[in-house]
Amino acid sequence: MPILVNGRAGRLDPLDRGLQYGDGLFETMAVRDGRARFAEWHLARLTEGARRLALPLPDQEMLLGQIAAAWPGGRGVVKLIWTRGAAGRGYRPPANVEPTCIAAGFEWPAWPESAWSAGVRLRFCRTRLGRNPVLAGIKHLNRLEQVLARAEWDDERIAEGLMLDDRGQVISGTQSNLFAVSAGQIVTPALDQCGVAGIMRRAFCAWAALHATTVVERSLRPRELETATEIFVTNALIGAWPVRELAGREVPAGPHAAKFNSWLATQE
Ligand SMILES: Cc1ncc(COP(=O)(O)O)c(C=O)c1O
Repeated sequence: MPILVNGRAGRLDPLDRGLQYGDGLFETMAVRDGRARFAEWHLARLTEGARRLALPLPDQEMLLGQIAAAWPGGRGVVKLIWTRGAAGRGYRPPANVEPTCIAAGFEWPAWPESAWSAGVRLRFCRTRLGRNPVLAGIKHLNRLEQVLARAEWDDERIAEGLMLDDRGQVISGTQSNLFAVSAGQIVTPALDQCGVAGIMRRAFCAWAALHATTVVERSLRPRELETATEIFVTNALIGAWPVRELAGREVPAGPHAAKFNSWLATQE
């Protein structure tokens, strides 16, 4: 597993602010032959995150080079991390920031094919997402809510857990975005208060637009999922997984996830 720190097989400074405070961002990408799928969108989200956190904006060519260096071979995963770099104690950002870029390559995960063909089981998590519009949508390094939520179950048959915000609205999975077909309309939770605006969520919306299909972004109550006629979750690695069961209740199979996955296979 090659890990590059600022372009070299080096070590991370223990005083890196990414480690001290979660002061940074990350992207997890599906990579083939050194090229990330939807690379432009991943880098755009990273840049938007850097702008919001007032971090130096990463050079796009440099990032593409790091991705290729971290996983030059066949199908794999690259995780890019961009932090405010090493600094002394105290929250105040240093005047002269030397950002840290970490690029780590990983083998492609061995998920069972049935996750796409038969669908996956989901549960609801007790851990809630706090609302903060300044951090909503971007993929910052503070993921303690997801860590706590993911620690709530170890039943291998449950693939993902859904998380609500402090008002009880459904926001997303611990590591995925959510879509549901409700009253004939494709709905995905609005992410203006919390949650990560996923690249695969964006890809699904782009695919839907190509097919003149509307996706509505709005608040979603857990009860609405009980009558949904299709539910699926998305992320940059899995594409879309149809949901066959939510909290022990069977969910009907619908056409969108499979159609989207077929289109996605042509995008690599
Ligand atoms: C909390 C959270 N939401 C959504 C997503 C999906 O984002 P993407 O489609 O960019 O992988 C992820 C991915 O890891 C995530 O961690």
